[in-house]
Amino acid sequence: MDPNTSGLVQRLAEAGQSHLLQFWKELGPEGQADLTLDLQGMDFQEINGFFNNAMKTSSSSKQEKMDARMEPVPREVLGSVTRDRECLKDWETEGLHCISQSKVAVLLLAGGQGTRLGVSYPKGMYDVGLPSHKTLFQIQAERILKLQQLAEQKHNTKCCIPWYIMTSGRTMGSTKDFFSRHNYFGLDKNNVIFFQQGMLPAMDYNGKIILESKGKLSMAPDGNGGLYRALGTQGIIDDMQRRELEFIHVYCVDNILVKVADPAFVGFCVQKGADCGAKVVEKTNPTEAVGVVCKVDGRYQVVEYSEITLATAEKRSADGRLMFNAGNVANHFFSFSFLRDIVQKHEPQLQHHVAQKKIPCVNAQGQLIKPDKPNGIKMEKFVFDIFQFAKTFVVYEVLREDEFSPLKNADTQDGKDTPTTARHALMSLHHRWVLNAGGHFIDENGRRVPAIPSLKDGTDLPIKCEISPLVSYGGEGLEELVKGRDFHPTLMIDEHGVHELVKNGV
Ligand code: UD1
Repeated sequence: MDPNTSGLVQRLAEAGQSHLLQFWKELGPEGQADLTLDLQGMDFQEINGFFNNAMKTSSSSKQEKMDARMEPVPREVLGSVTRDRECLKDWETEGLHCISQSKVAVLLLAGGQGTRLGVSYPKGMYDVGLPSHKTLFQIQAERILKLQQLAEQKHNTKCCIPWYIMTSGRTMGSTKDFFSRHNYFGLDKNNVIFFQQGMLPAMDYNGKIILESKGKLSMAPDGNGGLYRALGTQGIIDDMQRRELEFIHVYCVDNILVKVADPAFVGFCVQKGADCGAKVVEKTNPTEAVGVVCKVDGRYQVVEYSEITLATAEKRSADGRLMFNAGNVANHFFSFSFLRDIVQKHEPQLQHHVAQKKIPCVNAQGQLIKPDKPNGIKMEKFVFDIFQFAKTFVVYEVLREDEFSPLKNADTQDGKDTPTTARHALMSLHHRWVLNAGGHFIDENGRRVPAIPSLKDGTDLPIKCEISPLVSYGGEGLEELVKGRDFHPTLMIDEHGVHELVKNGV
């Protein structure tokens, strides 16, 4: 097709993006058709607007000024699994009640590209090497199944926790295919709803869209805050309304310990009348790659690890703890009405964040360049950028060893957030569940292993022990299986029973 006739040439010229057609004549009919299709779907004026706004807000002087405007989360909005132990049961009861009435959904953000982990398939399909070899998707699916069951048993009623899964252009096909091949891990496929977030082009520092090859734009998902636009354009908000959902738990794919639809978190937020809530763990290391929940100019916000200055990250309170220690574990609670207002009213006000990247590109001569320093930006919205619109915002603090072990990086010696640390964190938690339920472990000489849970950053080897989520969601229901018994690792407890696998099993 001649780009002139489609009005493309003019649209590109008006937007200062004519260079995108510079290799047109070399593309051949198929390449030309593909490029035309890509370009026709794009609103260049809007993209230029995103670029200008994002660049304005991301300059480093702005960043420094923001540091001065940050305040820690005040105690009165904070609930804690350790300090408020006496309330926990109550919150959990409330949450389970909401679940039993099918008012609670979970929403998984799985549109990321897993660049740091270095795999070409979606992260949820990753097997961290547990005895069962379950993937992150399977673990999450089974937790949902178990929680439905617990709510049904307690309230003697049928219920369902719909699972919304946001993917991107790059991950949709393989994610859907994986679920279908595994029969949705036992969930009803009508209650597993996939939808796709948007993509944006990478731009150079002058606002020109980058070509990754002569006939192809460099495109990336628009950040996990692309959620809000996608909820509207993909009809998800309408689906939630049809199902009469009231509370949504949004979380990231990579945390192996994630308590999907955590009844205590949901119950806490509901009892506080919150429209928006965030789960946090104590950040203890100033340079840890977690965002911090705080207030900026009196409004709640997460200041991302890439956006905080070291000086502020290192500030300490009188008790010696980090001043900004509410580490974001990317588990958020939203009331449905809040989410609907965001989608219908506030989404366009959300600003893109800028990430400077080394973006492979073709130069004016058509040669492929792999830059060794950043040559452009990707623009992303962040899921927590809507906290500022909350009327009642709460923060829920949990224990890192119970709830947070993200998979970000490939395995290296002493690596952080790797398959090994994730695997160890899960086995260590399950070890503690067995001990709490009155079970014991014995070593190869028949001696009881001391009841000191091993682990911290995966440096100690944990007892090999895995409990299927189909048996226990959060450590409950294990006494009848383990009380007073001695086990040789590797211990596996699943829906078929209690097994001691051959030693050196993992
Ligand atoms: C995220 C949080 C950070 C938190 C940390 C905890 C954001 C923006 N940052 O950081 O504050 O401390 O997790 O582990 O949430 N995703 C999409 N679409 C995208 C990009 C990402 O769905 O376009 C999804 C990913 O699949 C993943 C999640 O968002 O499930 C987080 O993405 P990732 O890039 O790993 O976030 P972090 O930088 O680790």
